[in-house]
Amino acid sequence: MSTTIAVSTAAASSRGPFRLAVAMLIVTTITILKGALTTSTGSGMAYPDWPLSDGQVMPESSYTTLPGFFEHFHRLAASSAGLMALALALWLHFGRIGQALVRRTAWCGGCLILLQGVVGGTGVLNNLPAVTSVTHGTLAQLTLATFAWIAYQLSDRYHATVPLATVAPGTGRKLMLFALGMLVAQTVLGAVARHTNSPHAMWTHVGNAFVVFVIATIATAFAVGRLGAVPGIPVLTRWIVGLMMGQIALGFVVLAVRNPAGKTPDNVQHLGPAAVISMHVVIGALLTVLVATLAAHVYRATRLPDPSPARELE
Ligand code: HEM
Ligand code: HEM
Repeated sequence: MSTTIAVSTAAASSRGPFRLAVAMLIVTTITILKGALTTSTGSGMAYPDWPLSDGQVMPESSYTTLPGFFEHFHRLAASSAGLMALALALWLHFGRIGQALVRRTAWCGGCLILLQGVVGGTGVLNNLPAVTSVTHGTLAQLTLATFAWIAYQLSDRYHATVPLATVAPGTGRKLMLFALGMLVAQTVLGAVARHTNSPHAMWTHVGNAFVVFVIATIATAFAVGRLGAVPGIPVLTRWIVGLMMGQIALGFVVLAVRNPAGKTPDNVQHLGPAAVISMHVVIGALLTVLVATLAAHVYRATRLPDPSPARELE
């Protein structure tokens, strides 16, 4: 009875921060879409300076030219996501909301988005070398996955999940982490292909997609087989498998419509292909979020029983 009360108290105090975390996830996904459009239209150097754009906070060219619009509004969306991340970390910290882990994760998310801005800005100041663009593209997905992890730890689902007594603690954890690692490797390969236009990286990315698919299928089948009775597991696995099949199909469309010359400022004339390729980037980010959330949920559902419920629900 007291455990149930502690669960609902913890869940109730987390509700406001949970909503902010979900809003942060939405704004960051929009930031990723705008960043992907910036790359796909070859607009990365619309403003050669940073942190201002042409020395201004709101240059006229950001609403009169397409490259200016993509790049500047990408920066504005990123700044909003950064401010939300800071607000959430301060709220959790000073409100002493949630467990110590979620407060640490929130500060970690804040540092990641700050680093992301610095990498993006450094890239601009150095005329977009591949190393900063690849790091920026990959880090974006890890930042989004960290935000999803924060939201998960503040959710009612997290508070209500109890480990299944019939399943050995730790079951499936390594498999989940392996699937997540392979997905991140797939993003790195895609980013190298995108920013260097290397055919070698491109075909490795295409081939690796099938390896990732097989590993994700095994991991999700395992999760459903062992933990299918835990609320949230079946729906997460269905979304992962469905989105991954869609992503592989979309990948072939991307291959067909992309400019063989890679990212050039001329690409802004072809908004259709740019939108298709950007969707591939955004779905890649959503897959990273879903697999990271499934991994976190499997960890939660297979944790060792805590002898002191009061500490667990602190
Ligand atoms: C104000 C800070 C930022 C600046 C100056 C900036 C700048 C840029 C630039 C110039 C590009 C194009 C790179 C290229 O084509 O080589 C880009 C792309 C991108 N940015 Fe940012 N960015 C910032 C913050 C962020 C944040 C916070 C995120 C997400 C968490 C993000 C996510 C992305 C993504 C996903 C791409 C596309 C990468 C790809 O499609 O390969 N950016 N950014
Ligand atoms: C597991 C499935 C897949 C995932 C998660 C995935 C993810 C990604 C991501 C995240 C990027 C952009 C990376 C960045 O710049 O930040 C990318 C780029 C790319 N992907 Fe995939 N991908 C998958 C499968 C495929 C397949 C099957 C194909 C082709 C048949 C493909 C073709 C491409 C191409 C051509 C690019 C570079 C686009 C450009 O040049 O602008 N992908 N992929």
